Formats: sequence, structure tokens, C-alpha cells
Amino acid sequence: MDPMIRQLLVLSIALSVITSASADRPLIVAHRGASKEAPENTLAAFDLAWVKGADAIEGDFHLTNDGQIVCIHDSTTKRVAKRDLVVANSTLKELQKLDVGSWLNPKYAGTRIPTLDQVLKTVPSGKMIYIEIKSTATIVPSLIRVIKDSELELSQIMVISFRSDVIKKLEGAAPQYSSALLTKFEPDRSRRAPTAAEMVVTLKKSQADGISSTRGRVTPEVIRHFQKVGYHFHFYTIDDAATGRLLKKWGADSITTNVPGKMAEWLKP
Ligand code: G3P
Ligand code: CA
Repeated sequence: MDPMIRQLLVLSIALSVITSASADRPLIVAHRGASKEAPENTLAAFDLAWVKGADAIEGDFHLTNDGQIVCIHDSTTKRVAKRDLVVANSTLKELQKLDVGSWLNPKYAGTRIPTLDQVLKTVPSGKMIYIEIKSTATIVPSLIRVIKDSELELSQIMVISFRSDVIKKLEGAAPQYSSALLTKFEPDRSRRAPTAAEMVVTLKKSQADGISSTRGRVTPEVIRHFQKVGYHFHFYTIDDAATGRLLKKWGADSITTNVPGKMAEWLKP
């Protein structure tokens, strides 16, 4: 993204923090909706997140066989439904026949997989959505079309992904959208953790506007390193008071959590 536009978006995110119910704290982002209490990535979970006072919702999105964008975490339906369908090989109609609520609680029986445009419609004025793209970059043209067709303002949208090619394609086609690259500042089995300097290089290549990380080995210096050069710094998925308060002190731009209501309480001054 053009550095000027990025600065403006960073400012607009900062402004939404200031104008949110509780100023001086990171945005609280409901991970897959209020997913501790309602079935993840469903309208029930997103609606509940707004009731709980979330500043934003986060949802996971895939492209179906017939070119629709649906909200589901895994590439198959096995974990959340009785039938196991591969999302990319199924049509919207086939997917929306499934009950994706009963697995959590019988009271959610009959809950359906929502489309991206249905999820966007839940976002109230002044609130945000973090759209996590799980599919390949082929989803990007449809993604841009659905976002443009929605009534949401630019400042209400953040596109996030672990895939730098998705972010790069989005920023190439629609640099007006804010984006963040997902990472983990911790070593995994196959490689060491990236350093802050390495991640800045990756961000530059993908043209992302920010980074979203696990708590991992992040320090206040790492956050400052990114923010100083104009990137925002987000955290996922934080469900405890101590870490939430620590990240607030360190100046995180947002905290993604499964318990948005509790996090709002914990972060009160
Ligand atoms: O916000 C990022 C986070 O949602 C990434 O992890 O597996 O829950 O999608 P995952
Ligand atoms: Ca996610």
C-alpha cells in the first residue's frame, strides 16, 4: 500500500480506538465471533460478539466450488457438522444444508454456514471486521467484489492472512484496503522464529499494512520496531487477563480473543 494511504489508515484505526466505548486500549476483536459461547464463525457468534461489546469480529473465509465466499475455519466441514464435505469442492447450497451449531450446543441446532456478505451485514456502524482468508489467492477478485458491494466503509475492513501471496494480490488490486500478515513469533518444529527485521522485509514484500502475531517471543521493543516504521501490531488469540493487560501496556493495536466481554472488563482502567 502507498505509505501515505497506510498512514491515513493507521490514523483511522487509531481514531476508531479513541472513539470506541473504552479509549486508550487495544481494539477487542472477537475471534470467530463470541466463540466460547456460540458456534464459531456463525451469525449467532458474531451477533453475540456485538452484544458483548466487541470492537471488531474476526472470521475465517474460504471459496466454494461455485465461487461463493463462506465463513468456516477448516477446509472441510468435519469438525463442525455431521457430514464431511471439502469446502472448495462443494457448492454454497450443499454447504448451507449442514447444521454447524449442534456440535457446540443443541440449542444452536439448525445454524448454517454464513456467506461473507451475510457476515458483513452484522457489522454495526463504527465497528470493524477482520476477514481472515484461508483459501488461495484465487479468492481475491470475489473478495473485493463482495466488500465493495457491502455498505461498510474502508475503515471498517481489515483483511488478514497467513498467506503473503493473498495479501500481495489484494494490495496489488485494491491498495485502499487495510491488511495484516499473520505470523507466529515463536519457533516451530521446522524452523526458527523470524526476527523482527526479517518480518519487516516480508511485510514490505507483501505490501501488508501491519502484522498480527501470537504472544510468542514478542517484546515491547519488537512492537515499537514495527510501529516506528508505520506498521500496526495486532495479537491473537489471547484469552487471559494477565496477557491482555500486558499487551495493552505494550501498545498493541488490537487483541483477538474468544472472550470479548471478559477482555473488555479486564482492560478497563
Ligand atoms: O486472528 C488470527 C487467528 O484467527 C489465526 O488463527 O487458526 O484461529 O484462524 P486461527
Ligand atoms: Ca482465524
